[in-house]
Amino acid sequence: MPIETNTSLKAYNTFGIDVAANKFVSVNSVEELKKVLANRGNDPLFLLGGGSNMLLTKNIEALVIHLNLKGISVLSENEHSVQLRVMAGENWHEFVLFCINNNYGGVENLSLIPGNVGTAPIQNIGAYGVELKDTFVRCEALHIETLSEKTFSKKECNFGYRNSVFKNELKGEYIITSVTFELTKTNHELHTSYGAIQQELDRKGINSPSISDISEAVIAIRKSKLPDPTELGNSGSFFKNPIITSEAFQAFRLQYPEAPFYEVSPTEFKIPAGWLIEQAGFRGKRFGDAGVHKNQALVLVNHGNATGEEIWQLALKIQKEVRSKFGIYIEPEVNVF
Ligand code: EPU
Repeated sequence: MPIETNTSLKAYNTFGIDVAANKFVSVNSVEELKKVLANRGNDPLFLLGGGSNMLLTKNIEALVIHLNLKGISVLSENEHSVQLRVMAGENWHEFVLFCINNNYGGVENLSLIPGNVGTAPIQNIGAYGVELKDTFVRCEALHIETLSEKTFSKKECNFGYRNSVFKNELKGEYIITSVTFELTKTNHELHTSYGAIQQELDRKGINSPSISDISEAVIAIRKSKLPDPTELGNSGSFFKNPIITSEAFQAFRLQYPEAPFYEVSPTEFKIPAGWLIEQAGFRGKRFGDAGVHKNQALVLVNHGNATGEEIWQLALKIQKEVRSKFGIYIEPEVNVF
């Protein structure tokens, strides 16, 4: 586990931003991780999972630890369900495919989401009516300062929309090393009500879909809307969908009756940021190599050699325009460094 110096992070972030890490090490086990942490001296830390939810705007003057912990094991199973313990460095989509291939149900709607298993709980990844928390049982984590290991129950994770305790009270304190999921082996609970999924199944003439059919439908929908990071650098949704109060929503709806929305609770409404950004005129726009995706305005893209700073300036411009047009603040979903 050699520590490298001045390592390019271009291959380690899905935006494909070429910044360097002062020090870089890839760890393959919890023991290696503990050793690196114990010997780090005064170096500040920077943890790297799949690099799919970050925008790097400058060189990282820190010890970058690439969490390359691998492995999937069956903890327990019966006729109806199975519990899998998945190490943090497993690629999320490969884990989903593993489940589909074994007929384990529950994560099929989360197909093709970039990133790793260990970072998925931090923002409670979600798509097409399903969130990580729906199959989550517990996760194991290492406390960075004391090196003690702790198991977090679902309750302790305090999951919310793109949110958890790891983004709030415990931010920067723990490293998630594994996640345990409970998946179904029979009577899979299918979530097809999300419009686009049903349409895709109808188009293929599928009446009683399997989890594999749903996964394929989700993959087709995502491919049609979201750019493949290996072809066009991006970090998925750059902004969160804003949630506004019912008073603000009533006024908004009078002015924009055509706008899509979701009722979160009787007092809160979520407006798709993609719609707001498109209405503000940014869909498909390009400023140098920094751009807004042509099929989904929520996604910022790197057309080649954009710097992180150029993408960040574009994000700020979008945020400002959306605020001045709609009076709504949109908050980044990605972590900006
Ligand atoms: N819309 C527009 N213009 C756009 C984009 C969207 O008008 O450029 C409208 C759509 O027509 C639709 C609505 O906005 O009426 C919602 O769009 P979509 O169904 O694509 O979903 P989203 O709210 O934009 C969220 C997640 C995605 C997830 C999809 C599907 C967030 C921040 N994003 O996007 O997550 O895949 O739902 O469930 O919640 C990600 O986090 O990286 C991600 C891609």
